[in-house]
Amino acid sequence: MHSANGVAFSYNELNHKLDKKVERKIMQHKEEWMKTPLELPELPYAKDALAPVISEQTIDYHYGKHHKAYYDTTKTLVKGTELEGASLEEIVEASGKDPSMKKLYNNAAQAWNHNLYWKQFAPVGKGKMPAKLETLFKENFGSVEDFKKKMVEEGVARFGSGWAWLVVDDGKLDVYSTPNGDNPWKDGKFPVFGLDVWEHAYYLDYQNLRKKHLEEVLDKIVNWDYVLELIDRYIGQ
Ligand SMILES: [Fe+2]
Repeated sequence: MHSANGVAFSYNELNHKLDKKVERKIMQHKEEWMKTPLELPELPYAKDALAPVISEQTIDYHYGKHHKAYYDTTKTLVKGTELEGASLEEIVEASGKDPSMKKLYNNAAQAWNHNLYWKQFAPVGKGKMPAKLETLFKENFGSVEDFKKKMVEEGVARFGSGWAWLVVDDGKLDVYSTPNGDNPWKDGKFPVFGLDVWEHAYYLDYQNLRKKHLEEVLDKIVNWDYVLELIDRYIGQ
């Protein structure tokens, strides 16, 4: 759920209203938020900035090949369709509702998921957790460590490929996981942090040790200021 200007609404409600073009305020919200262009974003740090937690070699493949391919495929699939020229968020939302667009959804959702993934990191030692976020984790999970433990458990338990997410759900923080490239919007939840548990995210650096990789990521390279910024956006504080 999101709250802006005193109006609370779920993502599904938001899109229902967007489709009908009945809420000027919500249209403004769309202008501000659902506008990511179909271009692979630059990394917000050097390719070796996350090492040794995530090596430069992993970034070369994960960002340079996999993330780029999600964008390239999305661009190819929307070319000449009514979604050509739409923002990445609009494509994820529209394709997620139409089973015949499953391939487009998989690629567009993964493009968006990886945008968040790279942006939510900071060079080793730079990501101090703000006191406000510590308090939110205590309120929602018991402690910061309990939050991290829950994220890791969700990531380890995800069979095959997928994501473990910290989401804002009905105004509260929650942790859960999704299969393959699915994005939490489909479930009416807002993702604010995601752990990629596809093997391409960790196998070069950790081989089969998914749990260790997830623990290292949570302990060393998260840009917690950015996570809090997203939480504030969705909770509307
Ligand atoms: Fe990935």
